[in-house]
Amino acid sequence: MNGPVAEHLLRQHLIDPEICIRCNTCEETCPIDAITHDGVNYVVKAEVCNGCMACVPPCPTGAIDNWRNVPRAQAYSIDDQFGWDALPAQSVAVNAPAAEAAAHDPAPATSDIVRGSTVPPWSAARPYVQLYTHKAPARAIVVGNYRLTDTSAPSDIHHIVLDFGAVAFPVLEGQSIGILPPGTRADGHAHHARQYSIASPRDGERPGYNNISLTVKRVTRDHGGNATDGVCSNYLCDLHKGDEVTVIGPFGNTFLMPNHPGSHLLMICTGTGSAPMRAMTEYRRRRRLEGAAGKLMLFFGARTREELPYFGPLMTLPNDFIDTNLAFSRTPGQPKRYVQDAMRERAVDVAQLLKDGNTHVYVCGLKGMEEGVLAALGDIAQAHGMVWATLWDELKREGRLHLETY
Ligand code: A2P
Repeated sequence: MNGPVAEHLLRQHLIDPEICIRCNTCEETCPIDAITHDGVNYVVKAEVCNGCMACVPPCPTGAIDNWRNVPRAQAYSIDDQFGWDALPAQSVAVNAPAAEAAAHDPAPATSDIVRGSTVPPWSAARPYVQLYTHKAPARAIVVGNYRLTDTSAPSDIHHIVLDFGAVAFPVLEGQSIGILPPGTRADGHAHHARQYSIASPRDGERPGYNNISLTVKRVTRDHGGNATDGVCSNYLCDLHKGDEVTVIGPFGNTFLMPNHPGSHLLMICTGTGSAPMRAMTEYRRRRRLEGAAGKLMLFFGARTREELPYFGPLMTLPNDFIDTNLAFSRTPGQPKRYVQDAMRERAVDVAQLLKDGNTHVYVCGLKGMEEGVLAALGDIAQAHGMVWATLWDELKREGRLHLETY
C-alpha cells in the first residue's frame, strides 16, 4: 500500500488478534477483498490492501486500526498472521495513527463504498465502548436462560439474562458484548470472544437492574451446512442460573437509536437479528409512558411462526405503538416470503417514512438479506418520487441507515 514511508518500507495494515471479536465486519466492508480469515484470526493481505480505510470506521473494537512499518520484502504473510495471538512489536519507527496516514494517502470516500452509516444518529446517547477487555474482563451471573422458539421448531434460540451485580456495565440499544467461552481450541490457545447484540434496553432487562439480555441461536451447522457444535452458542444455551460468564465490551458506536422526540424507527430483521430491535422497541415502549412519540415499523422474517423469537410478546404490542409485519419463508402450503417482499407490500407506508428526515433505518440479520432490503428500499423510494442514490447518501451521512448482517 502507499503511505508516507520510504519506498523500501511498507506501512502494513494488520488486525490485532487480542482485541478482534471476529464479527466479520471488516471482511464484509473491504471493497477489494484484502481481508480474510481462518477459524482463528482475521488477517489482511499485504499485497492487496491499498489502505483505503473503508474497513476502519465500521470496526466495533478498533482491532482493525493497526499498522506496522516493515521492509516491503519482509511483509507479514497471511500465514504469519494466522498464527498470531498478539501483534508483533513495532520494529521500525513510526506507527502513525490511521487518520494521519489517511491524510497523506487520499482514499476513496467511504460513502462510495460502505453501504450503511459509519456515524450514529445525531441525537444518539454517547456510548461507552471497551470498558472491559480480554486482559481485564467483567464477570456476570446468569439469572435467566429461556428457550424462545417453539419446542416444535428445529431452531433452538435462547433468551439469556446476565446480571453484573455491582460492576458498572453501561450499554445502549444496538451495542454488543463479547463472551469469552471457557476452554481452549485444539491448538491449546484460549477461545476468542464471540460477539452478541444486546437485546435489552439501556436501563436493564428488568428496569432499574444492572442486567442485560442476549438472543442466542444454538449453532449446529457451519456455513457449509456440515454438522458442527458452535463453541460459544452451545456454551451459552446450556448455561444455568447462577453460572458465571466472562464478558468483554461493550462494543459499537454507530448502530444506535435516535433520542430526539418524533424520531421514527424502521426496523428490518431476521432471526436473532431481532435482538437490537427488541432493545430499541422496549426502550421506546418504556419511554412511551413518558410521552415519547415517533413511529415504529418492524419487518421481521423467520422460517415459520414457530421459529420467530419473541413472537408472543411482540404480538401483544399495540398497533398504534408498533406497525409489525412478519414474513415467513417456509410455512407449509404458503409461498416463500422474505422481509423485502413484506416491505414492498407496504411500500406506501415505507415511502412515507423514507420521506421523513426523522426516520432511522436499522437492518440486522442474515447477510443475504442486505442486498434484497436495499433493493426494496431503492425501488420504493424511486416509485414514490425520491432519488434513491441521493437519499441513500443522505441516510448514510446523517447516521440514519444502519446495517449489521452476518
Ligand atoms: P429461508 O427459508 O430461505 O432460509 P434463519 O432461520 O436461517 O436465521 O433465517 C431467517 C429467515 O431469513 C428465514 O425466513 C430465511 O429464509 C430468511 N432469508 C434467507 N435468505 C434471505 C435473504 N436473502 N433475504 C431475506 N431473507 C432471507
